[in-house]
Amino acid sequence: MEIFLILSREHETLPLAELKAILEAENMDYSLKEIDLGIVKLKTDFPDATIRIGKRMAYGHEICNLIAETSLEKLDEKISSISWNDIISESFALRVKKIDSSDNDSQIMEKSLGAIIKSQLGEEIKVKLEKPDTFIRVLVIGSKVLIGKRETKINKKHFFELKPHKRPFFYPGSMSPKLARCMVNLARVKKGDLLLDPFCGTGGILIEAGIVGTRIIGSDIDEKMVKGAFQNLEHCKAMDFNIFQADARKIDLKEKVNAVVTDPPYGISASTGGETSSTLFKEFLQSISKNLLENGRICLANPHYVDVNDLIEGTKFKISEQHGIRMHKSLTRVISVLEKSK
Ligand SMILES: C[S@@+](CC[C@H](N)C(=O)[O-])C[C@H]1O[C@@H](n2cnc3c(N)ncnc32)[C@H](O)[C@@H]1O
Repeated sequence: MEIFLILSREHETLPLAELKAILEAENMDYSLKEIDLGIVKLKTDFPDATIRIGKRMAYGHEICNLIAETSLEKLDEKISSISWNDIISESFALRVKKIDSSDNDSQIMEKSLGAIIKSQLGEEIKVKLEKPDTFIRVLVIGSKVLIGKRETKINKKHFFELKPHKRPFFYPGSMSPKLARCMVNLARVKKGDLLLDPFCGTGGILIEAGIVGTRIIGSDIDEKMVKGAFQNLEHCKAMDFNIFQADARKIDLKEKVNAVVTDPPYGISASTGGETSSTLFKEFLQSISKNLLENGRICLANPHYVDVNDLIEGTKFKISEQHGIRMHKSLTRVISVLEKSK
């Protein structure tokens, strides 16, 4: 099966990194080609690949089964040559999306291409712009065109409705659900895995982990956060979770975890006795190392001025990927994935 994905362009590296992490986590064999920033063609024989990817991805828009590829010049001819009766059964809509183009003739193209398709089909098959049974995507990237049937539209509603200030317990400094989901994905967890966030705050990362299907452990040094995270997880109907009060530097779990996904505090933290974040990170890594399975991963967010290379010196961890997110002029947040080596 060949599919193409329209990823978000809100970051240069995270969307593709997230996609690759999901494919690995779900054990899908694949070959992938990035055609343009945020446009990816993917071959896989994995059943339900589009559904599985679509359910997990944060930085994506839609996933289509590839019907044909052509050039802009030969687009009409190609559309005419496709056997639409085999693809469309009740109603359809055709939408054109142009990448890197200032032309605003998409609506004209939609009308003329839609008419070519309609001429092949029986009277009973209607054009239906809202909620059609079949959604045909025509993706124009320079002079190249991909024609596909949309299988999955990534649900943005969740990321909007679960923004930190919309949850029962809010505290400033909470991470956006989109980034939290992406970090869970970067840790390459799968359904049933055990995931820990030892600086869980309001529980944003834990909520997303629960949606991906992991079992959840959260802890925080602050009792107020523990109660708040509990409330938020209940509100989100999380199933398999355990939250308790603990210092991340002294965690001792009964069962080792597959992944740690976390957003430690930075600056001088009053809650950690005024220690600098570097010292806190180092001690946390030592403690976490004992609680993480041999092939486990850590995905963490830290400010740019904390060098993760320094933090992992002398530990079993190595950095497998890093992505910088510019927050404002003087702060970049760095997302790092660490692997524990034997
Ligand atoms: C940046 S916030 C985490 C925010 C969280 N990702 C969210 O979405 O709400 C960091 C958290 O670390 C907690 N914390 C600070 N020092 C700690 C320590 N030594 N052990 C555990 N938690 C600690 C703070 O109470 C705070 O809730």
